[in-house]
Amino acid sequence: MKTVDHSRVEKTEIVLPQHANALGTAFGGTVMSWVDVCAAVTAQRHCGRIAVTASIDALHFRAPLRVGDVAVLRSWMNAAFGSSMEVECIVEREDTATGERVLCVDALLTFVNVDDQGKPLRIPGLVAGCDEDRARAKAAQGRRERRLAQR
Ligand SMILES: CC(C)(COP(=O)(O)OP(=O)(O)OC[C@H]1O[C@@H](n2cnc3c(N)ncnc32)[C@H](O)[C@@H]1OP(=O)(O)O)[C@@H](O)C(=O)NCCC(=O)NCCS
Repeated sequence: MKTVDHSRVEKTEIVLPQHANALGTAFGGTVMSWVDVCAAVTAQRHCGRIAVTASIDALHFRAPLRVGDVAVLRSWMNAAFGSSMEVECIVEREDTATGERVLCVDALLTFVNVDDQGKPLRIPGLVAGCDEDRARAKAAQGRRERRLAQR
């Protein structure tokens, strides 16, 4: 069993001109790649080995990231199932002068722990340390059922 804190990730990026679209805001595909990498590190910290992205759903771009912005990515485990796990990732724009952060992106990703042949392997359970952890795990269970029904 592992705690949610064991696998939390926070990483920062600066939105550079090469990340921008024609409007001077971050290209969505680039931000999605940052989200995938951040969440994959959470998944791999939890299961202790390779985890592949099985699905990304509910990815929302809530506010733009502009060239020069500091983007702060955070990810954490919502739930551990058999060989799969749901990871949540958010991206915030940080005003480095005031420390104020604005939510720009949120996403839910499912990773599967696999062996060297790509075969799914069981993962450690997730310890819910507080009511918030328990609520996240319960909500993730409902989403898993809907997600798998739509597969
Ligand atoms: C994800 C993958 C390993 C699942 O393998 P599979 O042989 O279909 O495995 P199973 O049907 O036995 O499912 C294994 C687990 O994956 C979950 N899963 C499979 N497809 C899923 C999907 N689309 N969304 C969410 N979970 C999924 C299952 O629920 C199961 O989880 P559980 O063990 O917690 O119950 C396989 O489809 C794969 O390798 N996909 C490509 C991954 C990839 O290349 N990602 C991008 C680069 S990292």
